Amino acid sequence: MTTNITWKSRWTFILAATGSAVGLGNIWKFPYITGEYGGGAFVLVYLACILLIGIPVMIAEIMVGRAGRSDPVHSMSKLGKAEGKSSNWGAVGAIGILAGLMIMMFYSVVAGWALDYVAQSISGAYLDTPADAIEANFSQLLGSHSQQFLWHSVFCLVTASIVAGGVTNGIGKSVDILMPILFGFLLLLLGYSWINGDFSAGLHFMFDTDFSKLSSEAVLVAMGHAFFTLSLGMGAIMAYGAYFPGTSSIGKTVLTIAALDTVIALVAGMAMFPLVFANDLTPGQGPGLMFVTLPIAFSNMTGGQFFGTIFFALVSIAALSSAISLIEPGVAWLEKYGIKRPVSTFSFTAIAWLGGIACIFYGEVFNALDYITANIMLPLGGLMIALFVGRALSRPSVSEHVGMGDGILFKCWWFALRYLAPVGIVLIFFNSLKLI
Ligand code: PHE
Ligand code: NA
Repeated sequence: MTTNITWKSRWTFILAATGSAVGLGNIWKFPYITGEYGGGAFVLVYLACILLIGIPVMIAEIMVGRAGRSDPVHSMSKLGKAEGKSSNWGAVGAIGILAGLMIMMFYSVVAGWALDYVAQSISGAYLDTPADAIEANFSQLLGSHSQQFLWHSVFCLVTASIVAGGVTNGIGKSVDILMPILFGFLLLLLGYSWINGDFSAGLHFMFDTDFSKLSSEAVLVAMGHAFFTLSLGMGAIMAYGAYFPGTSSIGKTVLTIAALDTVIALVAGMAMFPLVFANDLTPGQGPGLMFVTLPIAFSNMTGGQFFGTIFFALVSIAALSSAISLIEPGVAWLEKYGIKRPVSTFSFTAIAWLGGIACIFYGEVFNALDYITANIMLPLGGLMIALFVGRALSRPSVSEHVGMGDGILFKCWWFALRYLAPVGIVLIFFNSLKLI
């Protein structure tokens, strides 16, 4: 069965894919792992992974989705079969669906924290509060299972309600309005940080590259995050690609999405680190980074209560548009077996919800899910997708499906997909296993 629904235009697709890409990965995770892995050199490796691995794989994912016009499992097995190759390639899609489920488990918990900070902002919990008390606020939240349980459940429920209604209706429109506002707020925070933070210390931390600080684990995490932040390696972008209008150019679209995602992550980091250094916080303090630095900014800002409320609401919405794409591949797949969309959505989300509860009670579960998905499952999925498109499918058929002509752009992509991406991923894996 194929779908004939397409996004209204290339731009709507860009917005939806950007909605998937831009999320907690940019605003919460990127700054805090940059802090943990020492700054500049880590950022540089991350940027190189986006360019040399992420972008080529993203083009491949959208191409497969558009050519297959189905969920990731069926798109991949169908394309494989059509070229006389094995239909077992569908298994890559299945592993991706599992990865999406596992990511959703901890993602919804963090999104729940953001919701809690909406409530905190409204009640003025961090207004005129010293930095150490603001830090204590976050620890208090981590200690409260019931509070986390509440917000995590709310987030799962909202996500499921939207996905149950079908993806093409809601997402495009909301992203269209909210992304620019979110970006505007990040610029506001950047301005605050510039005026009130130790801006130059922040910039030095983020952009001075000292490769002696770079462990092999840092390289693995940088690559894993490139996949995570662009929503790659698990079929989210592939599933959206199924609705990509038939004739538009994939290459330019992908560059736009990757650029937006990268700029938002960098701006988030540049808004937070100057505040870290001005308030004697440590850059490597972990997952609480955003929930400590930004309230410090809002607590001292005129209108901080209002701005804080809106900002954390926007972060929650950005998380929502990403979470939707985490479960969409699985839901689309279940639908193919005749299970009604609302039923498949709510059962799928229920599993993620239960996993999230485990994350709330056991920090190790949270960390393990985060680590395994981003650093192992997504890069592995990306590797398989690169091998599928770059090696299992034939060049003429890929060239036809991807619609980038046969010029220099196509040739660069084809080279990156066949050589740079797979070799890079494998080398980084081996390196982190201390095999090379
Ligand atoms: N890209 C999202 C973010 O940065 C997370 C995500 C990963 C979404 C994988 C979908 C698939 O927050
Ligand atoms: Na992202």
